[in-house]
Amino acid sequence: MKIGFIGSGNIGQVVAEGAIRAGHSVVMSNSRGPETLTELVQKLGPKAKAGTSEQAAREGDIVVVTVPLRALPQLSTDGLAGKTIIDTMNYYPSRDGRIASLDNGSTTTSELTARHFPEAHVVKAFNSIYAPEIKTTAKPKGDPERRTLPIAGDDPAAKKVVTDLIEAMGFDVYDAGSLHEGFRFQNGTPAYCAHVNRTDLIHLLRQAEE
Ligand SMILES: NC(=O)c1ccc[n+]([C@@H]2O[C@H](COP(=O)([O-])OP(=O)(O)OC[C@H]3O[C@@H](n4cnc5c(N)ncnc54)[C@H](OP(=O)(O)O)[C@@H]3O)[C@@H](O)[C@H]2O)c1
Repeated sequence: MKIGFIGSGNIGQVVAEGAIRAGHSVVMSNSRGPETLTELVQKLGPKAKAGTSEQAAREGDIVVVTVPLRALPQLSTDGLAGKTIIDTMNYYPSRDGRIASLDNGSTTTSELTARHFPEAHVVKAFNSIYAPEIKTTAKPKGDPERRTLPIAGDDPAAKKVVTDLIEAMGFDVYDAGSLHEGFRFQNGTPAYCAHVNRTDLIHLLRQAEE
């Protein structure tokens, strides 16, 4: 698969590395333009190229949206109709400004993402692991220490594609349910960034309060 990245910071870079290790190719983008990504693309190797965000959206079979949440309203929806989007974003009021619908719990960050990209299939994933650990805690299938990562989304086919990708990158996957259920592993919940197996992850997800 070709995976487009809107955002090439801490998370974008390590997810791209892991995806390349799993046999995929990547198109990286940021807010400043492809010419600022030359060094990164060299580091990622021949399966990586830099583009504009619109190119990453258009060319990606799936597209990882991994920017500060405050940038979401500025992102173009071009090229994303019908596509699977991986949403890694978390809400930090100190960085993103206050968002009333998140503060009062009436919605979740990934539901905001789905509202911004109404024709795409949003899957919440990789929001609940520290960027460096995507590399340092990946383990082969069957390893007793293999970590389980939660995902959430409303489209089963999109969740299957994302599950296959994450499993190939060295993690088991637990489907926590609908996009709304993603509140269970937003930042600040017991499950957030927990390095756990499936059984313990389910236990932690149940402790989240809406
Ligand atoms: N860091 C972590 O461990 C971690 C873990 C889980 C989830 N997250 C979440 O994942 C998201 C990304 O985190 P991060 O740590 O990777 O952030 P980061 O290092 O600050 O990188 C953000 C990236 O987004 C790009 N960007 C910003 N505005 C953009 C726009 N309008 N159009 C296109 N690209 C834009 C930036 O490009 P420029 O530099 O060119 O502006 C940069 O490449 C955040 O929502 C964060 O809360 C982070």
